[in-house]
Amino acid sequence: MSDIVENETIFYAKAEEYWKDVAPTVDGMLGGYGSISNIDLNGSKTFLQKFLGEGEGKTGMGCALDCGAGIGRITKRLLLPLFRSVDLVDVTQEFLDKAKVYLGDQDGKRVENYFCCGLQDFVPQDGRYDVIWIQWVIGHLTDDHLVEFLRRCRGGLRPNGLIVVKDNVAYEGVVPDEVDSSVCRDLALLRSLVGRSGLHIVHEEQQMNFPKEIYQVHMLALR
Ligand SMILES: C[S@@+](CC[C@H](N)C(=O)[O-])C[C@H]1O[C@@H](n2cnc3c(N)ncnc32)[C@H](O)[C@@H]1O
Repeated sequence: MSDIVENETIFYAKAEEYWKDVAPTVDGMLGGYGSISNIDLNGSKTFLQKFLGEGEGKTGMGCALDCGAGIGRITKRLLLPLFRSVDLVDVTQEFLDKAKVYLGDQDGKRVENYFCCGLQDFVPQDGRYDVIWIQWVIGHLTDDHLVEFLRRCRGGLRPNGLIVVKDNVAYEGVVPDEVDSSVCRDLALLRSLVGRSGLHIVHEEQQMNFPKEIYQVHMLALR
């Protein structure tokens, strides 16, 4: 059992209930902040492109995994334009159904798998992914499940593969959100959980130009 979550079963069940009632739209994915989606995606692209390409140590552009993908906001604008194929995983079936429409007939063909599964249970296929993108979903996992999930993601990477965690960070400690049943961790805790997973932070940046009233958002590249 995680330090920060009293009852794991209720923590996950409440989150599933919450997301079932959320509109399958970009605004729904971003809690009413659909207007920041472009800034977010542009920041992600600049960050990710530092690692991609050909040559020594570069991350390939074959297959990516979008974790907590929702309707595929990130898959559509970040991952499908860069990778030959993409898999999506999310606990909410309605969002994955919407993704099939949202991603469009043409580009959507390059999605190989839609996995409906909680990340706490999901096992990425060994050695399949060049990039595993995990955005705005880690707060839905307990500490121990996050550590175990990151460890399994490590096994899912191809040579020179990369895991990116992009998420809200608290100024200090752990801030629970009773509405969507999640937690927001500070950077020190997040870094220590990454360390427990056996991964290393190879690069870290704060997403700039977000509204002042929301949490700071950080991008961590892990290997
Ligand atoms: C804030 S939305 C972010 C969606 C997407 N990452 C984006 O940035 O557009 C959170 C997503 O996480 C999904 N989710 C919540 N708990 C989850 C869990 N335990 N495992 C997998 N997905 C989960 C929700 O269904 C929802 O699609």
